Amino acid sequence: MKVAGKTIVVTGGGNGIGAALAARFAAEGARGVLVADIDGDAAGEVADRIGGLAVKTDVGDEAAVQHLVSLAEDAFGPIDLFCSNAGVGPTGGLDMPNEAWQEIWNVNLMAHVYAARAVLPSMLTRGDGYLLQTSSAAGLLTNIGAAAYSVTKHAAIALAEWMSVTYGDNGIKVSALCPQFVNTAMLDAPDADPAISAWVRQKTIEPEEVAEIVMQGLSEERFLILPHPEVAEFFLRKATDYDRWLHGMRRLQRQITGVDNLE
Ligand SMILES: NC(=O)c1ccc[n+]([C@@H]2O[C@H](COP(=O)([O-])OP(=O)(O)OC[C@H]3O[C@@H](n4cnc5c(N)ncnc54)[C@H](O)[C@@H]3O)[C@@H](O)[C@H]2O)c1
Repeated sequence: MKVAGKTIVVTGGGNGIGAALAARFAAEGARGVLVADIDGDAAGEVADRIGGLAVKTDVGDEAAVQHLVSLAEDAFGPIDLFCSNAGVGPTGGLDMPNEAWQEIWNVNLMAHVYAARAVLPSMLTRGDGYLLQTSSAAGLLTNIGAAAYSVTKHAAIALAEWMSVTYGDNGIKVSALCPQFVNTAMLDAPDADPAISAWVRQKTIEPEEVAEIVMQGLSEERFLILPHPEVAEFFLRKATDYDRWLHGMRRLQRQITGVDNLE
């Protein structure tokens, strides 16, 4: 898929990876870029900068996602590419309150369901359309210290796989974007373990680099888009010997939280 001339929605477009994607799509000549974010001011700033349209949207609210899609279609015509990118990334384990688990589930998984429900009927009628879901390397591997994030990002990949199998023969393309660490506000979560944050910061890339890899992935219509290529190797190791991979992850966790002896 080439994005020139296309109508594109980017959720979580007010900051970070979403803002970089929106800017890149506009620069590549998209017909219209709709920047959706729960932070309406941030969405507005990005939209103003790139000549797009901002819509304040909570992607965890199905009616709001339906409304977003209607607005985009009215403004620019049928949606060619829906980038379901908004996500939340709190750290925490099993003791995270149920309400927090439910909220992250709504944003990191159900938002993708709501987006697909809203755009697929029109895409299936046209026999053409593209769904890009931002998951994470945590969806293929795991995220040390972040149970709900890891679980919901796995679920997002499961959904993307299922949609690709179910609708791929009907002209629907699906990609799962799985970055490892990207230099965005998400890495500055106030509840993050400082030792883990310090380790993560050694491995970050910039949102614009992610956008570049996404452009390649979309043009090749590749299912897995991996801005950090080593994630493919880690995923292979996990599939080849799950127990060995778990052992290695426990060792990594000890190294990171042990503060010294960082890799
Ligand atoms: N930064 C990383 O290291 C990293 C790594 C892997 C995956 N990701 C994923 O990339 C995506 C983008 O994250 P980012 O790193 O750019 O973070 P970010 O915090 O810079 O941007 C996330 C955006 O999503 C918006 N958002 C949050 N909840 C929303 C909601 N309910 N409705 C609409 N918008 C909402 C926020 O306002 C923000 O603008 C997320 O899905 C995240 O899980 C990030």
